[in-house]
Amino acid sequence: MTTQIITIDGPVASGKGTIANLVAQELGWRYLDSGALYRLVALSAKENSVAVEDEIQLAKLAAELPVEFLEGEIYLYYQLVTNKIRAEEIGLIASQIAMHPKVRTALLERQKEFAKEANLVADGRDMGSVVFPEAQLKVYLTASAEERAKRRVKQLGLAIDSPEYQKIYQDILARDERDKNRTVAPLKPAQGAKILDSSTLSIEETVKKIIKWYQELVN
Ligand code: C5P
Repeated sequence: MTTQIITIDGPVASGKGTIANLVAQELGWRYLDSGALYRLVALSAKENSVAVEDEIQLAKLAAELPVEFLEGEIYLYYQLVTNKIRAEEIGLIASQIAMHPKVRTALLERQKEFAKEANLVADGRDMGSVVFPEAQLKVYLTASAEERAKRRVKQLGLAIDSPEYQKIYQDILARDERDKNRTVAPLKPAQGAKILDSSTLSIEETVKKIIKWYQELVN
């Protein structure tokens, strides 16, 4: 059976995680949060004192990482790490280690496994361009850097005018820069991707739009 795949790529804090998860729920499909895999390698590297420059050791970690995704929770070495990997520090380490080709190759097969037996909604940076180029629908979800920083601040329960806003905004710009300019799998819309700017759309509107696009494509 050919499995159906929808990919949702986009910059940091574009809301792709929330949107992809909801699209998967609505369709009754499996969900792959590929960023979580990079974050898990980052957490493991930090805890095992592996340097962000050590490509060989990082690739080894990535290939062997004992990870489990169970009912919305993520486990690493049987420990619950769902919240731990969301820390800004882990995100920054993840974006540094994601620049290594050997780390990306080590994670490639692990990601492809997710679509072997079930229809899949996958979110990340290169889901449509590298990992699942055969996907029926490819979406590039974006929003302005200011809007994304505001969403992240809100998510952390902080006020928009809090001193943390500037730091989060600068971190988002730095991470965009790194994701877009790396030589391997840079962040850019996949060939044939539909661009969706969610700056002025609600979560519900964004989910509806993606499902409508998919239905138009397959009907
Ligand atoms: O999406 P999230 O912020 O969880 O991803 C963490 C980091 O992992 C990103 O900044 C990006 O550098 C990297 N990543 C990637 N390719 C993916 C998913 C994430 O390079 N498919």
